Amino acid sequence: MRVLLAGNWKMNGVRASLAEIRALKRSIGAKPAADIVICPPATLLAEAARTVEDAPIGIGAQDCHWEASGAYTGDISAEMLRDAGAMSVILGHSERRQYHGESDRIVAAKIAAAGRAGLMAILCIGESEEQRDGGQAIPVVKNQLKASTEAEVSAAELVVAYEPVWAIGTGRTPKAQEIVEMHDAIRAELKQRFGSEGGQVRILYGGSVKPDNAAEILSLQGVNGALIGGASLRTADFLSILHTLPSR
Ligand code: PGA
Repeated sequence: MRVLLAGNWKMNGVRASLAEIRALKRSIGAKPAADIVICPPATLLAEAARTVEDAPIGIGAQDCHWEASGAYTGDISAEMLRDAGAMSVILGHSERRQYHGESDRIVAAKIAAAGRAGLMAILCIGESEEQRDGGQAIPVVKNQLKASTEAEVSAAELVVAYEPVWAIGTGRTPKAQEIVEMHDAIRAELKQRFGSEGGQVRILYGGSVKPDNAAEILSLQGVNGALIGGASLRTADFLSILHTLPSR
């Protein structure tokens, strides 16, 4: 399975930041060791998409509405993202779940909308620190996955990112063994949901992936890539993460 490195810029970046994407484009060569997706804020999507036109870099968004159009002031539909040049969209990120009250049901509807618009959905799931300490991490994450994929979803257009909430932006990561166990559990759930196609869905790890821990995390069994927040903002960091992968 080809590794996917996705950069989540969150609410960071103005037009001058497109220089980072241009620098990435210059440095990765024609055949990078991974599929690469950069998810800048919505205001930069169209220009970012133009910037990577002839490069092996995809542009993704960070959220979408579940309807294609309508009276939803301030929202952006999957169709609009696609029209702006996005090929994928992050959905159900814990910051959306926390600050915008997004439930699994809403996330499921958004994944279905992404599918209708031809966008690949990068579905984020992950337990809180309390849930991990209480021994509930695996059942919590399995339930999230199940409930977030209850609507119409095609496995071919889905990527799952396991992001423990307590590891995001904190510099802390789970133990290697904990990541392997969780990815295993997610894989089993995906096969249950999608049959053999569930074996082909990429499962990323996300949460404080940095140049100095990327080699270990990306070499773990069942880890098919990474969703990278802070370390995706600087091209030098993102490149060092890419360069931990064996070239092929
Ligand atoms: P981080 O964020 O790499 O800054 O921890 C990851 C994410 O929220 O996707």
